[in-house]
Amino acid sequence: MSDGRPAAPVIAIDGPSGSGKGTIAARVAERLGWRLLDSGALYRIVAWAALARGIPLDDPERLAVMTRTLVIEQGAAAVRVDGVDVTAAIREERISVGAAAVATLPEVRQTLRGVQQGMRVAPGLVADGRDMGTEVFRDAELKIFLDASVDERARRRHKQLMEKGSSVSLRDLFASIQARDRSDRNRAVSPLRRAPDAISIDTTQMSVEAVVAEVLKHVETRGLAAGPARSRGGGQEND
Ligand code: C5P
Repeated sequence: MSDGRPAAPVIAIDGPSGSGKGTIAARVAERLGWRLLDSGALYRIVAWAALARGIPLDDPERLAVMTRTLVIEQGAAAVRVDGVDVTAAIREERISVGAAAVATLPEVRQTLRGVQQGMRVAPGLVADGRDMGTEVFRDAELKIFLDASVDERARRRHKQLMEKGSSVSLRDLFASIQARDRSDRNRAVSPLRRAPDAISIDTTQMSVEAVVAEVLKHVETRGLAAGPARSRGGGQEND
């Protein structure tokens, strides 16, 4: 980014768990032919790898060292860590909880920040997470903050997990989402909050397509959609 060339454009999409940001980011990236960064997956990977290696989730030094050595491949269809396919494993509820725990550690965030910023390549990046617009890509060309009621977010997550064959109760998920919200919004480092220059969209009553259309409208308004990237396919579905 310091080679004199202008940095590739970034669309930062932040919001709480279940706000739809993963799905929306994937669709927008696909439409634009831009790269997708699912930053939550990186925190999930750290939690998964720590649990697999028996490293306590509250040991910042060991977690940071481990994080620096992980070989992460985020492909369109699969996520691999050190060659192991963890696509399904990192979506388990115990990993959601673990990810929120490791995400409170500045040492882990610092290491992952470099990984995330390294993904800013032409023709552009669509990045989703909690601190894309407030910390990692403060200079993003477009910042979107998605939200939805806790009820709706728990229902969406429940549906996703059911489709994957998991059987967590809606009530447990509601409690888990509230606990994660509390942790994400109140942690000392990079808490979840709306960047002052972000556009807020409440997705509670909106379809995925309607939210995608709304984001693309802002992409258009800011002149970000122009260029040869438009015809390229690709992208991935998650969240
Ligand atoms: O988005 P997802 O639910 O996969 O993220 C899992 C956890 O990772 C979140 O609950 C949050 O604690 C953490 N996270 C974060 N910063 C990001 C993305 C995710 O702290 N940019």
